Amino acid sequence: MNIDDVIRNRRSIRKYKEKPLTKEQIVEILDAGNRAPSAKNRVQWRFHVFEGEAKAKLIQVCREGIEKLPKIPLMASTANSYNIMDQAPVVILVLQTCEWGGIGAEIQSVSAAIQNMLLKAHSMGLGSLWINDVLFVEPQILDFLKITKEDSEFKDMLLEFGEKVGIEIGYSGPLVAAIALGYPDEDPKREPRKTVEEVTIWYE
Ligand SMILES: Cc1cc2nc3c(=O)[nH]c(=O)nc-3n(C[C@H](O)[C@H](O)[C@H](O)COP(=O)(O)O)c2cc1C
Repeated sequence: MNIDDVIRNRRSIRKYKEKPLTKEQIVEILDAGNRAPSAKNRVQWRFHVFEGEAKAKLIQVCREGIEKLPKIPLMASTANSYNIMDQAPVVILVLQTCEWGGIGAEIQSVSAAIQNMLLKAHSMGLGSLWINDVLFVEPQILDFLKITKEDSEFKDMLLEFGEKVGIEIGYSGPLVAAIALGYPDEDPKREPRKTVEEVTIWYE
């Protein structure tokens, strides 16, 4: 598959076959993520791979966590996202290191890694879904992973700088997203997109 086919034909997959992935397939996808560009080449992503019993426990943590929260409209899709994670044979939690504490560099690196993994999965005939709904239960997930909130070593300096120049710089949490992976059991149509003209302003 060439790069244009991969970019054009990737879809978010929300139904998966039971067929498991091999460890080699998962490692191939992680390797594609790990080859993404990163700010100052400091490789700010961390991957936590869940299958089987471990995945079931993770989803239980998500479901129990969300039950205890006050409901807001943005959370309406969480139950569905957790069901998709339940059905997919593999879930990868993607975390970021918090080096710059909210200045935004880490999230850009990590997002590049996620996109690489989604494209790689598609090129291998696999489906994937980028899932942000895990962020509603970030504290519970970090607790489950036994990860304490990591503060940037530059946080105070950045906060002070932010105040001086009138921009908000603060703490960024380590959890970025989950990725569901597996053999697709649906062939969704292309979601509508704005045209390039609609999203581009040219300066000449
Ligand atoms: C940052 C981000 C977060 C997303 N979070 C979720 C999610 O929590 N649950 C879900 O079902 N889809 C999620 N999606 C998938 C989007 O809904 C999907 O990419 C969009 O509708 C376009 O469809 P396509 O991926 O098939 O092109 C997310 C996508 C992105 C990029």
